[in-house]
Amino acid sequence: MNPIMLVKSTFYHEDETKKVLCDFITQSKQLSMGTKCREFEETFAKWQGKKYCVLFNSGSSANLALIQAALNSNLLKPKDTVAFSGITWATNVMPLIQLGLKPYPIDVEIQTLNCSSSILKKAYEKKPFQALFLTNLLGLADDITNIKKFCKKNGILLFEDNCESLGSVSNGIKLGSYGFASTFSFFVGHHMSTIEGGAICTDNEEFTKQLKMGRAHGWDRQLKKAEQKSLRKKYRVSDFFAKYTFYDLAYNLRPTEITGFLGLNQMQYLDEIIRKREENFFALQEIYDNDQEFYPLKVKLDTISSFAIPVICKNKKVLEKYVTLCDKNKIEVRPIVGGMMSTQPFYKKYIKEKFDLPNSEIINNYGFYFGNNPELTTEEIKYILSIFKNNK
Ligand SMILES: Cc1ncc(COP(=O)(O)O)c(C=O)c1O
Repeated sequence: MNPIMLVKSTFYHEDETKKVLCDFITQSKQLSMGTKCREFEETFAKWQGKKYCVLFNSGSSANLALIQAALNSNLLKPKDTVAFSGITWATNVMPLIQLGLKPYPIDVEIQTLNCSSSILKKAYEKKPFQALFLTNLLGLADDITNIKKFCKKNGILLFEDNCESLGSVSNGIKLGSYGFASTFSFFVGHHMSTIEGGAICTDNEEFTKQLKMGRAHGWDRQLKKAEQKSLRKKYRVSDFFAKYTFYDLAYNLRPTEITGFLGLNQMQYLDEIIRKREENFFALQEIYDNDQEFYPLKVKLDTISSFAIPVICKNKKVLEKYVTLCDKNKIEVRPIVGGMMSTQPFYKKYIKEKFDLPNSEIINNYGFYFGNNPELTTEEIKYILSIFKNNK
């Protein structure tokens, strides 16, 4: 048996995709952001069920642009408190610190790995917050419908980091369509790969405008004619000087036409990828059967577009046993994604306020995951199950 790595390939249908990519590059006049990116944005927004999509060069860039756009459009004010999921990825939290907001970690449930409305309510009573940057971890979510209701009732701005949950569905709605805006990653190994890439979806036209300006230098070149006209009028800028007028704080986080082309290409397989990931997820659930060593997973979703298979051990000894076992049997394992961000060196360097997150601590200290990808074979799934079952 070949080693079972987290990621098997750069693209789904790799050989075919590489061939059409070569042709595309050879035949294209323009490889900087252009029509392919726009075409992808339209196609992806439609698939996700949102009005607008803005494509970026990574999921981390999307997270940064999201927070910058929220500040630029006064949806957030400097020093506002932004709650975030206790277990998440570094670049979900870093923009909050970088852009002068106050991060507030919220604990997650051990059996769903995600924030629940009951944990959120308690955290809000303890300390109110203006926004929640919720991470949908590993293709999973807790009661996100109630989280949305709670945010609406309390005037909390809800953003979703959906970089790990493309295609999961809760109560008939795709994850990434609950918040005011949500981010996606198309990095290798995620549900859909454009090598590097990311996106933001929203229904809000004004916010989309801010995102497009934040993505490219703060200028108005990607805006609609009417939007350009009104900005130029407001700032008394001629069409000539508008070429180099920078209206607000921004970056260069642009994708290339290669990102757009690959996104469009891989989208033809997206529903199939999600179906396979879900099938694998259910097949691999057998590792939990009659098990005393792990916390059982308890997830209620219509579709589980699984990112990887989490295993939360009851203690350190069990964790060490399974990490060693997987190493020995060539099954690649890692800690649960980024883990508990409030214990990371970058976080402790800047943020001194401490909060108890008992469940996140257990997941961080005793959890691991192994890969789920659409190319896992039945033989490989059987092999993984046998390694877990024969070593109880
Ligand atoms: C939850 C989450 N957010 C953001 C990111 C960043 O995405 P990218 O690697 O495309 O920058 C990741 C990356 O894995 C992630 O897991």
